[in-house]
Amino acid sequence: MNELDQLVQAAKTAFAEATAVADLENAKAKYLGKSGRITEQLKALAALPVDEKKARGALINVAKQQVEAALADRRQALADAELAQQLRAQALDVTLPGRRRGTGALHPVGRAQERIEAIFGSMGFDIADGPEIETDWYSFTALNNPENHPARSMQDTFYVDVKDSQGRWLNLRPHTSPMQIRYAQAHARTHAGAAVMPDIRVIAPGRTYRVDSDATHSPMFHQVEGLWVGENVSFKDLKAMYLNFIQAFFETTALVLRFRPSYFPFTEPSAEIDIMFERGPLQGRWLEVSGSGQVHPQVIRHMGLDPERHVGFAFGSGIDRLAMLRYGVGDLRLFFDGDLRFLSQFQ
Ligand code: DAH
Repeated sequence: MNELDQLVQAAKTAFAEATAVADLENAKAKYLGKSGRITEQLKALAALPVDEKKARGALINVAKQQVEAALADRRQALADAELAQQLRAQALDVTLPGRRRGTGALHPVGRAQERIEAIFGSMGFDIADGPEIETDWYSFTALNNPENHPARSMQDTFYVDVKDSQGRWLNLRPHTSPMQIRYAQAHARTHAGAAVMPDIRVIAPGRTYRVDSDATHSPMFHQVEGLWVGENVSFKDLKAMYLNFIQAFFETTALVLRFRPSYFPFTEPSAEIDIMFERGPLQGRWLEVSGSGQVHPQVIRHMGLDPERHVGFAFGSGIDRLAMLRYGVGDLRLFFDGDLRFLSQFQ
């Protein structure tokens, strides 16, 4: 092997040993740099006699080209290796299954509430919403349930240990009945002075609170209040309307309804509404679904209306209870435990 061949070989070895780009550039400088070994060879040409210059120059150029080719190959190899390394590091496994989004669903009580709203909406009832933290006046007094009256204990209540800006005690509303007063007041004002009587038809669904907890009672539960005030409203309207609702809610006409005399301070007369299915798993048993009655004259007065002219009928039904009956749920607490094994059955 001649001297130039050895030089080329040495360059190739040096390039092969360079495992990083910087090393390779250093190796290049040693052979092709200003004072690199190939460059030195070219400089040495100057000292040769003219007749030798040409042949020697051609040989050196061949060697130089070989070194340059080896350098280019090694550069490419290093770049390829680096790319391969990067691809390995950032590997994306496209066969990995994606993360799924769970399917959400309405809570069964929310679902029952939406059903109730849709049915009453279709009968021309407005849907109203009101505060869950109420004043004593709206929860009791306005509903003809005076302070210290024993009827208040029908609704053992959570009190909030503060008074509102007008010095009134606050409580978590024990029923949705305060909404009768709130809604009628708002609409009576709209109608004040007008010759026409307000025709109020409204339901007010929402959360209610009582100191109560067992398989059929929860400290937080849901009610829907209904109020119909007009000129010629009577018990028969209440009955027809409620029967319509309950048949639509349970999607059956094989169902009867009865009024059973009862007592509520805010109605006179008062009745419980019981229903009985003529078919199905609940067949033949009277089930209590609602309180109801003709709105007491004192309550009509608190609405800002004239009891001599304005007649009202009202009801208050437990939404959770209706949901239990519709879905065949035996324990009310299941609705509020948040157990997905139970809740996902309603998707
Ligand atoms: N507020 C009553 C309760 O929670 C239910 C009720 C009874 C509402 C009779 C009414 C009614 O509107 O007329 O027990």
